[in-house]
Amino acid sequence: MTTAVTATDAAPLTLTDVRKTYLARGREPFEAVKGMSMDIRPGELIALLGPSGCGKTTTLRMIAGLETVTSGAIAIGDRQVQDLPPGKRDIGVGFESYALYPPLNVRENLAYGLKARRVRGAARQVDQLAARLEMSDLLDQRPASLSSGQKQRVALARALIRNPRVLLLDEPLSHLDAAQRQRVRRELKVLQREFGYTTIVVTHDQLEALSLADRMAVMNAGVIEQFGTPDEIYDDPANMFVADFVGEPKINLFEGTAVRRSGGTVVRAGRDGRLAAYAPAATDGQAVTVGLRPQDARPAHDDEPALAARVVVYEDFMEFGLATLEVPGVDGRIVAQLPHGVRWRRGETRRIAARPDRVYLFDTETGTRIR
Ligand SMILES: Nc1ncnc2c1ncn2[C@@H]1O[C@H](COP(=O)(O)OP(=O)(O)OP(=O)(O)O)[C@@H](O)[C@H]1O
Ligand SMILES: [Mg+2]
Repeated sequence: MTTAVTATDAAPLTLTDVRKTYLARGREPFEAVKGMSMDIRPGELIALLGPSGCGKTTTLRMIAGLETVTSGAIAIGDRQVQDLPPGKRDIGVGFESYALYPPLNVRENLAYGLKARRVRGAARQVDQLAARLEMSDLLDQRPASLSSGQKQRVALARALIRNPRVLLLDEPLSHLDAAQRQRVRRELKVLQREFGYTTIVVTHDQLEALSLADRMAVMNAGVIEQFGTPDEIYDDPANMFVADFVGEPKINLFEGTAVRRSGGTVVRAGRDGRLAAYAPAATDGQAVTVGLRPQDARPAHDDEPALAARVVVYEDFMEFGLATLEVPGVDGRIVAQLPHGVRWRRGETRRIAARPDRVYLFDTETGTRIR
């Protein structure tokens, strides 16, 4: 798109100890958001990631003004907005259910806000944005005749074209098929960069979060477990929840015992398994949960600590192979993602190891990372 929609003054968005307790008649008060704080920089794209029910939508609705905050503060720029009505917050909302006017066709729905603001070249802008979001063919249709994936793209376009200071998107791509989802996701990121909206995207798709976000907040049961760049979240998880939630295939988690040696830490696991770990804070003899990403496991050299494992199955995906392994004395199976060409066979015994700084240790009780 060009000219008439100009980049807004990107604004920082700050949440300070925001809480939400839902009160429903005949039910116990329920605290859905338990003290969220986030400092979001102007123009930053943030992904909110977490399991169903963790409070993602509630958080967005409070920022948008569609839900009251029980306590805490929300600021856009240097203006406190938590007590302002939605229309006074200058926020674009791309919620799935968010109103399109049924009597207007899609083109009219999109042009509506532009016309109200007397933006020049409104018609061309609508056409251009529609093309980029793969919805040119929908412009003459009425909202009622759209599929859910089509409605989603229209809702997204409507949020974008309003040119807000802050853009909030709740699962904006969830109804698109895989291929279109990837393309629209890419375009969304391009548009966000061009216009510099401070943006929060809610998703429970971790690949979407990792690929879209400058930083992401991993939420669980109303709290932020970790807020950081995708690299920090993936490479340096703060706790077992984050390590387990982010990463595909899932991280291997198994019980072990830390053994401190002058040269560093080794964890013992199962009957005679050993892995070198970098964890100066671990104490000798401490019972720990070991986290090892499938991508970090590799065939061991002869002279290093390793887990000896029996191959249960080997799946060859050409670019890489996945070995499912059983380590004597370790509960559950361990998955290792191996480079193309490593073809282990069922029934073989193989030894795996990993770089010590990629072997994570967690406090088994609290889930906190032991570094
Ligand atoms: N109006 C309401 N009254 C009472 N409880 C509510 C209300 N809205 C949401 N909740 C509860 O608050 C919690 C958080 O809900 P929320 O919709 O924010 O979750 P979410 O992270 O968006 O989940 P999902 O991924 O399924 O969309 C849930 O346990 C939900 O049942
Ligand atoms: Mg939700």
